[in-house]
Amino acid sequence: MKQYPTMDALMKRGREFLQVRYPIICGAMTWVSEPDLIATVCNAGAFACIAGGNAPVEILKAQIEAVRAKTEKPFAVNLITIAPAYRAQIEMLKSLPEPVPYVVFAGSFPREKEIAEIKTTGAKVMCFASTESIADRMIRYGADALILEGCESGGHIGHVTTTVLLQQVLLKYAKQVPIFIAGGVATGTLAAHVLLMGASGIQMGTRFVMTEECHAHPNFKEYLARANARDAVSTAQFDPRLPVVSVRAIRNRGTLEFGKLQLELLRRVESGAMTRQAAQEELERFWVGALRKAAIDGDVDNGSVMAGQSVGLVDKVIPVKALLEEILSDGEAELARVRDLLGPAN
Ligand SMILES: Cc1cc2nc3c(=O)[nH]c(=O)nc-3n(C[C@H](O)[C@H](O)[C@H](O)COP(=O)(O)O)c2cc1C
Repeated sequence: MKQYPTMDALMKRGREFLQVRYPIICGAMTWVSEPDLIATVCNAGAFACIAGGNAPVEILKAQIEAVRAKTEKPFAVNLITIAPAYRAQIEMLKSLPEPVPYVVFAGSFPREKEIAEIKTTGAKVMCFASTESIADRMIRYGADALILEGCESGGHIGHVTTTVLLQQVLLKYAKQVPIFIAGGVATGTLAAHVLLMGASGIQMGTRFVMTEECHAHPNFKEYLARANARDAVSTAQFDPRLPVVSVRAIRNRGTLEFGKLQLELLRRVESGAMTRQAAQEELERFWVGALRKAAIDGDVDNGSVMAGQSVGLVDKVIPVKALLEEILSDGEAELARVRDLLGPAN
């Protein structure tokens, strides 16, 4: 096995927190991160997350069992706090005879009580930090680690860029908890720099879609291979009366359809024909269905091809092991370059 001594030294905290060789996380991706991909990533020495998404508890439980049948390494379950099955998923996780080792809260942010409930199972809790105030609150609520995710990332996104969050969250809170950086991190070169800034590791989504072991439909990968960074656009919220969580995906007919649906639902909310909550749920159902259409059925014109702006940095499909080696060896080379730049005294 190749050695990456400087990267290893900088990854020590993340390695110890996640109990893995390489603190490189394959983020949860609804419909995409299924047990084969998760086990491949974990068995290669990195870390991966099962996407709880909107999965009914029996399906999520079966996924946990399937991952366990393929790997003995640690992994996480990602829960979306705004999903209809969220509460039932928490109860299921609490009832498991062998608790899962890590839980990631995504979507909106969890209540303090929910973090405490999960921690009673012995699981470590990781929370997304898409703003400084959320980071602060999640640490106060008891999160063991943060995933700092900038709005360059794919899927549901916040509003602040990775660059600003690095300064608002990483530089401020890294002493308190391990922080993993997501959203536009797609090269070993950048990974090396965020580690130098105090990150404990990185999380990627788009790059893991573009691996051989990922089961996403070939059309989906082909679409990503051809896309430029500017093609990965985020959806707008037209009116505060119908708040929507923005989604970043490759611009296509599906993104236009979402816009039309939003306007239609807005009209129904305004006329009193529908509650705001029902409209928001319908919008979320749209995304889950549209992502399935593209990622599983291969309908990349009408479905949702969720991807981050890092799509502009990736044009081929490679094995998971090659992706990890590329990140580690490019990171190691970058750190050697930095050492040379700083001169012999260093
Ligand atoms: C197709 C797709 C689906 C995703 N689904 C989820 C999800 O279900 N839950 C979640 O927390 N994040 C989700 N994400 C975000 C990823 O886990 C990851 O944080 C993000 O992709 C990182 O940014 P990057 O794409 O620039 O690497 C998704 C991303 C993509 C591309």
